[in-house]
Amino acid sequence: MIKRSLLLSLFLATTAAQAQDKAAAQPDMAKAKQTAEQVCGACHGADGNSQIPANPKLAGQHAEYLLKQLRNFKSVDGKPAERVNGIMGGMVAALSDDDMKGLSAHFASQQLKSESSKNQASIELGQRLWRGGDQKRGIPACAACHGPAGAGLPAQYPRLSGQFAEYTEAQLKAFRAGERANDPAKMMRTIARPSPTTPPACAERRQPPGPPSPRLRPPRGHEAGDGPSGQREGWSRPPLFHFQGR
Ligand code: HEC
Ligand code: HEC
Repeated sequence: MIKRSLLLSLFLATTAAQAQDKAAAQPDMAKAKQTAEQVCGACHGADGNSQIPANPKLAGQHAEYLLKQLRNFKSVDGKPAERVNGIMGGMVAALSDDDMKGLSAHFASQQLKSESSKNQASIELGQRLWRGGDQKRGIPACAACHGPAGAGLPAQYPRLSGQFAEYTEAQLKAFRAGERANDPAKMMRTIARPSPTTPPACAERRQPPGPPSPRLRPPRGHEAGDGPSGQREGWSRPPLFHFQGR
């Protein structure tokens, strides 16, 4: 009898703990919506569709990527943040990890209103680099990681399609200058500061558009040209700074 009640209480304790875990895993979406509207919305738009090119659009971005960025903006134990930005550093200072999860889920679930570009010359250059990279300069095809149409790939590779050209350009320059240094394995810093000698393996990639070097290889099933349907999709779209949404 004692044994049985012990087992029962053990069982109850485990289910209670499991229930608690589940509760912790579920962010408070009502609170997230409120913060999004009252705080973040001032710059990013309450629905994540910022109107100002300096403030990135967050709508439709992968939740995992948003969460990583929010964590990266936060300085922990007085150490410098992994992604240093005065404005966003201040914004995340008071946010808990659960708040960040909620906000990431909120903005990821919003409908992106895409920007588009009218600068035909830079669209064409961008499109070439996007699809095939530039072997001579050691630039891999952006599509290899960010997807043929710039939709990105959860969890690591952000969506670029529909973003403001100005913001995208600013981030590329920040990666090149090393001012933004939170990219895993220096992926974007290497790409934004290409040199024929830096990533020798880049030159070995198949052309066009082949997967990048083993160091820069995207996850399986997401090699350049392989859309979710296994077909080449989005190749007619204007990429690099000026992708349009799908
Ligand atoms: C005062 C304006 C302002 C407010 C308010 C603000 N942000 Fe930002 N946010 C920015 C700017 C500017 C950037 C771009 C930083 C850079 O250039 O690296 C940014 C970047 C971001 C990014 C990175 C996006 C990407 O594509 O990498 C995320 C995520 C983000 N903000 C979320 C939030 C959330 C969530 C809130 C509310 C808690 C918020 N922001 C409030 C101005 C703001
Ligand atoms: C090997 C994979 C890989 C390739 C190839 C690649 N990227 Fe990236 N890119 C990443 C990763 C990973 C991140 C996210 C970094 C982070 O976690 O902060 C990123 C982030 C970015 C961002 C920042 C997005 C934001 O919302 O702030 C821009 C802009 C970008 N990449 C542009 C490009 C362009 C343009 C090319 C082609 C010249 C390219 N990338 C090629 C992996 C790649």
